[in-house]
Amino acid sequence: MPASEKSGSNQVTPEPAKLDQVTLTAGDKSVVLPVQTGTLGSPCIDIAKLPSATGCFTYDSGFTATASCKSAITYIDGDAGVLMYRGYPIEQLAKQSSFLEVAYLLMNGNLPTSQEFAAFDSDVTHHTMMHEAFKGFLGGFRHDAHPMAMLVGMLGSMASFYHNDLDYEDPAERRLAAIRLIAKVPTIAAACHRYSIGWPLRYPRNNVPYVERFLQMMYEVPSEPLELNPVAAKALDLLFILHADHEQNASTSTVRLVGSTGANPYACVAAGVAALWGPAHGGANEAVLKMLGEIGKPENVGAAVEKAKNKESGFRLMGFGHRVYKNFDPRAKIIREMTHEVLNELGINDPLLDVAVKLEEAALKDDYFIQRKLYPNVDFYSGIIYKALRIPTEMFTVMFAIARTAGWVAHWLEQQEDPENKIGRPRQIYVGAPERDYVGIDKR
Ligand code: ACO
Repeated sequence: MPASEKSGSNQVTPEPAKLDQVTLTAGDKSVVLPVQTGTLGSPCIDIAKLPSATGCFTYDSGFTATASCKSAITYIDGDAGVLMYRGYPIEQLAKQSSFLEVAYLLMNGNLPTSQEFAAFDSDVTHHTMMHEAFKGFLGGFRHDAHPMAMLVGMLGSMASFYHNDLDYEDPAERRLAAIRLIAKVPTIAAACHRYSIGWPLRYPRNNVPYVERFLQMMYEVPSEPLELNPVAAKALDLLFILHADHEQNASTSTVRLVGSTGANPYACVAAGVAALWGPAHGGANEAVLKMLGEIGKPENVGAAVEKAKNKESGFRLMGFGHRVYKNFDPRAKIIREMTHEVLNELGINDPLLDVAVKLEEAALKDDYFIQRKLYPNVDFYSGIIYKALRIPTEMFTVMFAIARTAGWVAHWLEQQEDPENKIGRPRQIYVGAPERDYVGIDKR
């Protein structure tokens, strides 16, 4: 069957029907289900009454058709290639805002006044230090541990330093936990990197902005001062803005699922980092660079595209395709433009960029990718920029985690205040053995 005839996640959503309610008939039972609408986006049929009225549940593997919560943080129209944080188009934020301002926006709902921003910046800046005992904890990892593994462990351990005295029923304490996470994740991330290369840990400096502070913690050595290139800081700030939130993606949904149990926010964010690590999600940026390196030169692109089309090969074009975008990922457009600018300004001639450009061109012309609406996603070009900024490949997903922490804490805060929040508990279709009797080991 041609892909265009198939139903599934690669299809464009049709214009939604205008409805207030839906009547569903299951055998001799029928139930009227209300339809909920948000300010933008498709209407959602509220199926909460379905099991009690019909005895049936719904099945939606991978949540391709199911909204799990109401949220006022981020809006995506995947068919039109639109992304907005709190109503502001990503293109405007990328051009005019900064990562820290975006973090404020995500958490608080509106852009800050200059006083509000100064207070937020000061709060974040004054929570960047790690507890000294973290050093001992870090020292327990093997020298070659993947930094994402270290980040998961280190964030999980934060609960032991900052959890016991806190009352998460108190909004001020919840906010403090969110600030601590935004502030300390870069410090911890840089510490993981320095530990892996055997450099002494570097304390955060309060007299420089958020992104510069992180770059100092990554690269400054005791023996000489670091000259930071403003092009590098600006590029990283922009990448952080673009990665800050993406509504109910796998890692954010994980943060919310863990958060729904009342777990502490550090455990929730540690779980989010673990979910982000997979190559189908944030791990794709690392995988893209490896793939481009393996393709090696533009002449090999055709063979790579053919391999990606062959299901037997088990190979996919990393950085291509998205569950929600069936059009250009708007972040990919911004990053593609920025990649050329950053490499030009830093005077870098990276042959992998030629491979990436050729690969994008070839895939976008190919019927397989056209029919399945597979476009470059946010991760396709970001690795080339990280590489130009001298970020090691295994740190790419950690970069994503630093930025996404802003989104994760915003979602955790929103969830804690949501009167409809209840423990997340999906159902299943049981396909195991029917009831049978236990047989003693001597009779099996
Ligand atoms: N290369 C080749 N074929 C692909 C690719 C790809 N990158 N992505 C999807 N397809 C094909 C699938 O084989 C499937 O083909 P079929 O209809 O003939 O069976 C069809 O396109 C639909 O793919 P699904 O896997 O059903 O789409 P889904 O929405 O579940 O997956 C995902 C989205 C995971 C992002 C997928 O496109 C992928 O694996 N991409 C590569 C990894 C990647 O870049 N991940 C980063 C995502 S963005 C982020 O998390 C920041």
